[in-house]
Amino acid sequence: MNFLDYKNLVKQFNEWNHAYHVLDAPLIPDSQYDAAFRELQNIEEKNPEWILSESPTQRVGDIASSSFEKITHNVKMLSLSNAFSLDETVEFFIKAAKELSIPLAELPIFSEPKLDGLAITLRYEKGILRYAATRGDGQIGENVTHTVKTIQAIPLKLNTENSPETLEVRGEVFMTKAIFEQINQLAETQETKTFANPRNAAAGTIRQLNPQIAADRALQFIPYGIGEYSNEKIFLQHSGILAYLTELGFKANSNNRAFSATKPAFEQDYQRMENVRESLQMEIDGIVYKIDDLDLQKKLGFIARSPKWAVARKFPAQVVITTLFDVDFQVGRTGVLTPVARLEPVFVGGVTVSNATLHNMDEIARLNLCIGDKVEIHRAGDVIPKVANVIEQGEIRQKIVMPDKCPICHSAVKRIENQAAFRCTGGLACGAQTAEQIKYYASRHCMNIRQLGAKLIDTLCEQRILKSVVDIYRLKIEDITNLDGQGEKNATKILAAIEVSKNTTFSTFLTALGIPEIGESGAKNLAKHFKTLTALRAASVDTLRDVPDVGAVIANNLREFFDNEIQNQLINDLLSMGIHWDDGEPLKNGILMGQTWVLTGTLNTPRNEIKVKLENLGAKVASSVSAKTTYVLAGEAAGSKLTQAEKLGVQILNENQFLELLKTYHAN
Ligand code: IVH
Repeated sequence: MNFLDYKNLVKQFNEWNHAYHVLDAPLIPDSQYDAAFRELQNIEEKNPEWILSESPTQRVGDIASSSFEKITHNVKMLSLSNAFSLDETVEFFIKAAKELSIPLAELPIFSEPKLDGLAITLRYEKGILRYAATRGDGQIGENVTHTVKTIQAIPLKLNTENSPETLEVRGEVFMTKAIFEQINQLAETQETKTFANPRNAAAGTIRQLNPQIAADRALQFIPYGIGEYSNEKIFLQHSGILAYLTELGFKANSNNRAFSATKPAFEQDYQRMENVRESLQMEIDGIVYKIDDLDLQKKLGFIARSPKWAVARKFPAQVVITTLFDVDFQVGRTGVLTPVARLEPVFVGGVTVSNATLHNMDEIARLNLCIGDKVEIHRAGDVIPKVANVIEQGEIRQKIVMPDKCPICHSAVKRIENQAAFRCTGGLACGAQTAEQIKYYASRHCMNIRQLGAKLIDTLCEQRILKSVVDIYRLKIEDITNLDGQGEKNATKILAAIEVSKNTTFSTFLTALGIPEIGESGAKNLAKHFKTLTALRAASVDTLRDVPDVGAVIANNLREFFDNEIQNQLINDLLSMGIHWDDGEPLKNGILMGQTWVLTGTLNTPRNEIKVKLENLGAKVASSVSAKTTYVLAGEAAGSKLTQAEKLGVQILNENQFLELLKTYHAN
């Protein structure tokens, strides 16, 4: 390998990346990409002087310091004026046509969805991405290269042999609806802050100091124009610029259209976008109409901070007025009670709405809301409708009060200190929380009972077979085979997985208990500090505060949790079911990913147990030996499979060697 080979390899990677992230048409399987990536990392480790800034290894760099460098935009980043109706849209272009002294119908219009994210400028010098900056006030933005570089749809090097000296590409960074949902779900399980909408999530991610977090959130980028440019190419049309950007390796928006500025054409285009809006991967909040002819754009120029050649037709906020006739309190997994508005049903944005979220009691106080009031409901995109305002107070007004007992399990409800939220103190004993808590308890970061999936848990809870996490360990084969579509083979697998999961670690067990505010890392700290459950259960608030990251609130939470009789009983029950640990860490999930194992002969450990263990580590367990087999685990009196493995030169392990190997798979 010499530098030229390395350079070609990087080029190859950029082609693979472009195919995968921009064209949605992968050239090679992920496994091959991953293997090549590791090889590239090796080469760079051995030859650090070769590393090119456009190498895919350079996307995730160091954590940024706490403030972002200011960047002055030589060409201002403008905003758009808004139109809220067809008439306002047409009016905007009639004015432009008048100023240009040409008939309206001769104005060439380019229509683009208005992506709901944040504007970013990307500065390329000699084809290499030099920096990325936010819009800021239009003149001065902030350098956010560290997070923007993690966006795979942004080329680190432009895809051309004749790179312009300078080119600023401008466009929208956004988060897809699917990723937004995933991130919020994760935040909910980890009890961290959720984002209100994909735009906030994208903006928050760009301003993250840690680029790894940004990389994990898979942001997207679509360009909609250029800023400073050294003019190597002369463009006549805005659409020509966008086509050039596509050639350079950027994504194109497949919903862009061109037409002439007639009233029916604007209306038709608006209807078209309204129809596809729901099905799009990303949120859009309107349509941007631009005069496509760059010469006409230049003639029109700007007014204040927006161009006279482009306007944003915004989708209307979906607003209706109805009456609040009741408020219910819903109990979530962690016991938080959320007030839900029950409304006189109204039709808004294509659906009938009869419930809306009220967030928390502070929000109710802020709105000065009472049952009986006439309220304004807002619905934006796919987001849950919310009560935005009181329009008229009801004649008979009933105050909304947080119940002092959980509506489901009747345990006391308490306000979470320093927060607007209230929580049921019933914990694992509260029925409303049961299914969600069992799912959490069995999930990958907790007891990792993979075979016990969410759907099965829901069914078992509905049938009252599972009433608490302890019931998991009381499951019998018939409980599962009696359900639709569950065979005996599968049921055996599930029970074996439950059995295997009993061997855990202290910190995993603590995480799985779902103590408020205690996630994986909090549980690790506690386990490390107290070493035994007995010591932790006996710890005073003061001693608890000695643990890293445990402040007064969490220490009180913990004390309250371990003082709760119901929780204590539950912990004792779980332990009596055989849950145990020594000081090791749990098995690393996925470490055997890609391996195929074959078991043969008589083994001391039950086969099913071994199988589940291997599968939990990511391996496949097959029934016959081939050249693709990674390991054969051979017990006493192994026969033809062993012979076959010897013939093919497949690695063979006996049971002792296997158990030794397993030990090395313990994390850290
Ligand atoms: S053009 C000179 N095109 O909307 C015109 N903007 O309200 C500059 N936006 O800051 C903007 N999609 O963040 C343009 N297709 C699109 C857009 C778009 C979203 C955002 C952009 C801009 C804001 C203006």
